[in-house]
Amino acid sequence: MRTIYLEKAMSTNEYIKENASAFSHLDAVYTMCQTKGRGRLGRTWSADGGIALSVFIKDAKKPILIPLCAAVAVYNAFQKLGIDNLGIKWPNDILADGKKLSGILCEGVKDGYVVGIGVNNRQTMESLKDLELPYATSVGILGYNPLEEEKFVVTCIKELQNALEMPCDELIDLFSNKCVNLGKTVKIIKNGKEVVAKSVAVSSDGGLVVEIDGKNETVVSGEVSVRGIYGYVE
Ligand code: BTN
Repeated sequence: MRTIYLEKAMSTNEYIKENASAFSHLDAVYTMCQTKGRGRLGRTWSADGGIALSVFIKDAKKPILIPLCAAVAVYNAFQKLGIDNLGIKWPNDILADGKKLSGILCEGVKDGYVVGIGVNNRQTMESLKDLELPYATSVGILGYNPLEEEKFVVTCIKELQNALEMPCDELIDLFSNKCVNLGKTVKIIKNGKEVVAKSVAVSSDGGLVVEIDGKNETVVSGEVSVRGIYGYVE
């Protein structure tokens, strides 16, 4: 388990992609200055004042569950470091007080996977407003002392290792207990089109099982975004 700190990076996920052959299982790279971060569904991720962490995964019991492992790991790391009122918005946004504190982007790389974790840590209300991120919060905005970056990184990698080694059904149960969407009416947004559905469960492959017009359907994380019917979660 090796941790590389970079003063500056375009994207820590990209850094691992480009250097994958030099990385072993659970080796990680992080920076507080990421200039061209990538988010889910083609979005960007600004990390000014935040933590951008990417972890290389070589051994996973069930690779399709890596996004869920990552969400449980980041949730547990925040909890261990004293942050309360957490939740997971399927598939892997970590919320605090109902707002987004962390986003995760999992990608396939040569001979493995990369789990990219963005944490809003030292951002101020003004800086998030400038980025037009009304649903985002940061550790500082929540009223905590910002996380010590290295401590977060080490805690998070340990939690990721635990989650990856967990039996799959235990992982799905843990995830489901923390998931804020379950039992709620949600909007499923796919290619700009919105469908209202009720989220029912998390499938054994980590998909979200939703009920639409009385029929169950499973949506997968690479394709859709899920919102509440009035806003981000509710
Ligand atoms: C999202 O919520 O859209 C996912 C955001 C993921 C951002 C992280 S920051 C570290 C890693 N490097 C990247 O370029 N992206 C991920």
